[in-house]
Amino acid sequence: MSATLVTHDLNAIASAFALQGRIISIEPFGSGHINDTYAVRTAEAGTPDYVLQRINHQIFPDVEGMMDNIQRVTRHIRQKLTDKKIKDADSRVITVIPTKDGKSFFRDEEGNFWRMLVLIANSKSFDQVQNTKQAFEGGKAFGEFQQQLADLPGGPLTEILPNFHNVLWRFDNFEKALKENPAGRAEETAEEIEFLKERIGEMRKIQDLLDDGAIPVRVTHNDTKFNNVLLDSKDQAMCVVDLDTVMSGCVHFDFGDSIRTTANTGAEDDPNLENISMSLELFEAYAKGFLSQTVSTLTDTEIRHLAFSAKLLTYIMGLRFLTDYIDGDNYYKISHPKHNLQRARAQFQLLKSMEQQFAQMEEIITDTVNSLKEKN
Ligand SMILES: Nc1ncnc2c1ncn2[C@@H]1O[C@H](COP(=O)(O)OP(=O)(O)O)[C@@H](O)[C@H]1O
Ligand SMILES: [Mg+2]
Repeated sequence: MSATLVTHDLNAIASAFALQGRIISIEPFGSGHINDTYAVRTAEAGTPDYVLQRINHQIFPDVEGMMDNIQRVTRHIRQKLTDKKIKDADSRVITVIPTKDGKSFFRDEEGNFWRMLVLIANSKSFDQVQNTKQAFEGGKAFGEFQQQLADLPGGPLTEILPNFHNVLWRFDNFEKALKENPAGRAEETAEEIEFLKERIGEMRKIQDLLDDGAIPVRVTHNDTKFNNVLLDSKDQAMCVVDLDTVMSGCVHFDFGDSIRTTANTGAEDDPNLENISMSLELFEAYAKGFLSQTVSTLTDTEIRHLAFSAKLLTYIMGLRFLTDYIDGDNYYKISHPKHNLQRARAQFQLLKSMEQQFAQMEEIITDTVNSLKEKN
């Protein structure tokens, strides 16, 4: 038995859900950083396997609101797939398995929150994109997701993490941390602080457009890392997963964060800044995939700021890492004392690389949009 079985009675927890078949194993699964994820295998050939997740209740206090968002979004997508008579709908959208008493999550005796999903068989996900084909497919998957939710009825989703990608709110928190300087690290990071201050005027652009109603509020995923897309054995996109942060936002949050994570030639916390750059090739592939699904829905103003959104989301992440460093490392897990500073510096390096290539990035978006519009 694995060590995790000592802390949670996984069999008892899994049995609280209305699953089909007899459970033969429950093992840790995937490489997510937020939730604890397990694969629940069943004995019978005709029954699915399942994903059991302990929801990170620290980060997501409103589990009910979160599960409600996920149910609304997945039901809407499923209806679209059914309307289009898509045969393998079950591997193209997440299926939430209710508990035996009809709830979307289970609360154990220790106060942990659990949910169960159908495990999408013959799928894989990658922490890092391996080639342009995968980048294209990632863009296509998140683009399709955005497209499918463009007409979600029933009013706004619950705001699971308020101000999550609001750069002005993030900058405010940064300034508060600077003022308090609780860990005495402000002097040491003077250069990084300056880097952020120089750019905030430019970076507030999208939030201003959003606040002015100049770009539409959409349903966005808000955690568009490449490992949140499942691919099949031919590297074709199957399904978008990890819907914890799905809520209202703008298209730029999803596009920008994808580029930040997918097109970086180095690691998010790369200690060697020379490894870090934005790959224009991966940027182009992702943009082509994303726009292939969304070009007809996006407004001109949205399109005009797509390339910029990559800079914004990289800036926000650097801002958050530096804030946490100055604040004394309260939010992100660190593996050495300067880890958050190293992460911030890596994001700033990536941002500089985007700044250097910005004209080409804009050209790629314009050319892609033009050629897609010609085809339609
Ligand atoms: N329904 C599913 N079918 C198959 N694999 C899944 C499913 N849901 C999640 N996974 C896998 O588990 C990993 C972690 O799940 P995820 O929901 O992304 O959790 P986290 O929030 O911790 O990132 C994913 O990256 C994916 O590889
Ligand atoms: Mg994930």
